[in-house]
This record gives sequence, structure tokens and C-alpha cells, in this order.
Amino acid sequence: MVTSVAITGAAGAIGYALAFRIASGALLGPDEQVRLRLLELPSAMGALEGVAMELEDCAFGTLAGVDLADDARVAFDGVSHALLVGARPRGPGMERGDLLAANGAIFRDQGAALEAVAADDVRITVTGNPANTNALVAAHHAPSIPRSRISALTRLDHNRAVARLAAKVGAGVADVRRMTIWGNHSATQVPDVAHALVGGRPAPDLVDAAWIADDLVPTVAQRGAAIIAARGASSAASAASATIDHARTWVHGTAEGDWTSMAVVSDGSYGVPEGLVSSFPVTVVDGEWRIVPGLAIDDVVRARIDASIAELVDEREQVRALGLL
Ligand code: NAI
Repeated sequence: MVTSVAITGAAGAIGYALAFRIASGALLGPDEQVRLRLLELPSAMGALEGVAMELEDCAFGTLAGVDLADDARVAFDGVSHALLVGARPRGPGMERGDLLAANGAIFRDQGAALEAVAADDVRITVTGNPANTNALVAAHHAPSIPRSRISALTRLDHNRAVARLAAKVGAGVADVRRMTIWGNHSATQVPDVAHALVGGRPAPDLVDAAWIADDLVPTVAQRGAAIIAARGASSAASAASATIDHARTWVHGTAEGDWTSMAVVSDGSYGVPEGLVSSFPVTVVDGEWRIVPGLAIDDVVRARIDASIAELVDEREQVRALGLL
């Protein structure tokens, strides 16, 4: 069987890191065949041809084919995974509202295209920013796709928090379980270690509240900016890796006793208004995610979540005012 996977913005920095790993089996595994459906703007089709040439030259045994398109309805035809990475970056003088407008229109059109032509089992992952609200817009324009099949990426934030906590306590990343990111993929995101375990021990027994407030939360939330400052370009390989982790976990599930973080359509859990696309701790079994129920949340984390949710509500108002919802 061949599974079709769409990548938008495939000639961009994240797309370039993503396509080769998926082609080599990182998403579906070494025994599955993948057909890549790469979408770009007409102006980037030349660069995309180059990506396709390199994919061919890798001679991956897991790659059944590569299709290039500058039309979403062509690229998304029959796809089981839609990795929506391509987005308009914030340019000089652009306000956040301008960014929401430019990207809202892109994700409106891509949502409608997915609604029209994607496979029945399609899973949609939005990486392009502002990811949560782009996913909200796409979902609105794809009414027949189940809400449970639409998500935005906070796995990079999750992975960053796992790595930071592991380094702090001198453990391996594989020893860290039950990390949580709440809210928006933005500077207001809420990394939360209250329920995390390191080697089976509760993280709050290993790190103090000051380290969480003064180091973990700001470092994870500002990591994207720190990488731009250091590299002169935004995180690409790590964002691609997290996009694969997210989509792979969605198919293959979370490990027993662990969970992951995904931005999904809220059912009202934890006081997040129904319908907002917000990050939650989720378990995944048989391809279906479920928000981890009943976690105790202290006042400090509650206030951070409320601030991030207020930002998501504001973004929703802005795209609504633009006629995108
Ligand atoms: P990039 O600018 O290198 O590549 C974006 C590509 O998307 C370009 O090749 C562009 O031609 C294409 N594109 C733009 N509009 C398109 C459309 N309507 N259809 C198809 N392709 C389109 O940017 P990069 O570094 O690859 O980042 C992509 C997005 O991912 C950005 O929005 C960035 O902010 C976001 N990002 C998200 C992260 C997350 O954790 N959720 C982490 C890092 C980046």
C-alpha cells in the first residue's frame, strides 16, 4: 500500500528538512511506501523541481513517487497526511493582524481544498504560523472533516521542554515522561512540568518553582527567537523533526504511561472555550487522541493558561472580523 503525504511550502527551510526524512521512512516506517505531494507557490516551483531531483537522487526504497503542484486541489488529492508548513512570514512593518490576514486566507483556501479532495482518513497538521489560528481557519472551511483530524504543532515546544528538563536534572530525554504544553504556540505558551516524571520520579521533587518560572518557561517560549539570533534563520530541522514526531505519534500512539502535547480543537476541557485550537496533554490510541482528563492545575499555571487562551480568543476575533470564519 502507498500512503500519500502532502507537504506545503516544500521548497522552504522546514519543507526541505521534512521531505527527505519522510521519504526515507521516518513517518510511516521502513516497511511502508510513501508518495510525496509537494505544494509550493508558483514562484517557487523552480526550487521545488530541484528538491524533487534530489529526492530522486537519494534512491530511497520507501519513496513510491513525488508529485509537484502549485494548486492545493491537485496536491491534496487523496492524501492521508496534510502537513501544512508553508505560510507567509512576517515581513518588515507587518503587524500581527496583517500576518493573521495573509495566512488566514491561505489556510481558508487549503481547508476548502482538503474538504474537497483529501482521503477519508486525512490527518491535518498545521506547522505554519500562527499555527493554532491557521488550524482554526482551515477547520472552519473543511466542515466534513472530523474535528479530531485537525491539529496544530506544539510538539517542538514539548520537545524543547523535555530536553531542557532532562539537561537540568542530568537525565536522558527518554527518561522524561508526561511533559505538557498548554495554550497557543506563541510566546504565551505554557510549558508545565507539574505532572512530568523523570525516571519515574515527579519532576516537582527534582526542580524548584523558581527554575520553572525563571528558566524553563521563558527559555522554551523564547527558544525560537534565540535560534534566529544564533543561526540567522529560524528553526528548521527541529521544526521538521517535531512535525514528524507529531504525525507519527498520531498514527502509532503514545507509549503506555506517557502522553504528548498537541494543539487540538477544544471540547471545553480545562476551561478552554469549545472550538478553539489549543495545546493539551493528549494520549493517542488506535489513531485517536484523547485529552488527558482530571489533571490538577495550580494557580500559577492556571493564570498562564488563561493568558494564552485570551490570546487565542483575540486571534479568533481578528480572523472572524476579517470574514475568515
Ligand atoms: P520558509 O519561508 O523557509 O518557507 C516557507 C515556504 O512556504 C516558502 O517556500 C513559500 O514559498 C511557501 N509558501 C508560502 N505560501 C504558500 C502557499 N500558500 N502554498 C504553498 N506554499 C507556500 O519558512 P520555514 O522556515 O520553512 O517556516 C514555515 C512556517 O513554519 C513559518 O510560518 C514558521 O513561522 C513556521 N514555524 C512553526 C514552528 C512550530 O513549532 N509550529 C516552528 C518553526 C517555524
